[in-house]
Amino acid sequence: MTPLLSAIEVTKQYRLRRPGWRTAMLTAVDHVSFDLEPGETLGIVGESGSGKSTLGRCILHLTPVTAGRVVLEGRDIQALSERQMLPLRRKMQMVFQNPLTSFNPMMTIGQALMDTMRLMPGLDDKHRQQRVFALLEQVQLDSRIANLYPHEISGGQLQRAGIARALAPEPAMLFLDEPTSALDVSIQGQIVNLLLDLQKDRGLAYIFVSHDLRVVHYLAQHLLVMRQGQVVEQGAKEAVFGAPQHPYTQTLIEAAHLHVSHVSPAT
Ligand SMILES: Nc1ncnc2c1ncn2[C@@H]1O[C@H](COP(=O)(O)OP(=O)(O)OP(=O)(O)O)[C@@H](O)[C@H]1O
Ligand SMILES: [Mg+2]
Repeated sequence: MTPLLSAIEVTKQYRLRRPGWRTAMLTAVDHVSFDLEPGETLGIVGESGSGKSTLGRCILHLTPVTAGRVVLEGRDIQALSERQMLPLRRKMQMVFQNPLTSFNPMMTIGQALMDTMRLMPGLDDKHRQQRVFALLEQVQLDSRIANLYPHEISGGQLQRAGIARALAPEPAMLFLDEPTSALDVSIQGQIVNLLLDLQKDRGLAYIFVSHDLRVVHYLAQHLLVMRQGQVVEQGAKEAVFGAPQHPYTQTLIEAAHLHVSHVSPAT
């Protein structure tokens, strides 16, 4: 079976400005490789600054990679022109940590969802409008929300809208960048369970970034642990949680008071 997505030695360097003529290079993502199968969840954990979001931007072709390749459904997307990339863009969508800053404050939720559907040619305005209501229903939001602005709804509702927006162009994969960490604990479990339901219904693949190892344990089949741009551990969830090889992973698991034998699902 061809993986939905393969990252092959993906590397991203930033040139940092220094006073005077000197420049320094920062390797934000350092030779990261993984495969993602359709319908599967890869959990990514790692401390702040370890390169998780940068990896997401590389995968989604939002920033060019310095080296390495991203292969989507067997096609090397680095080699594609912007125009060739267009029909593939809709296949991978991002859900952001902070829904309030990820929505345009001047657009209603309905307008924001319509806007994302530009990636789907052949839909007229009437069908787009119908899809807005269908999408809101799928994330269990009232259709009246379509006419409201981001600041008029709660954080949990807005993150549901963020998920609806990501689903709008019918992607095969969502990159979820800490989608619950800005939300109240009481709301986090609802969003996680919504994501699980959507995945079951649509066969979506997820890359789920989180600081919360419990959530990752609940959602993911495979795990990737990053530190300073590098993968320090990767593999099946049971293997990584059950017998972490790297001291950093062991520390993370201990800090989360997560011992595999008695993990309860997120509530
Ligand atoms: N546009 C940029 N220019 C220069 N450096 C950047 C840029 N974006 C990210 N970096 C640097 O790359 C490294 C990785 O950042 P990144 O945001 O990917 O980490 P992260 O794992 O997502 O962190 P967090 O958990 O805080 O979200 C950091 O050192 C960061 O400062
Ligand atoms: Mg980040």
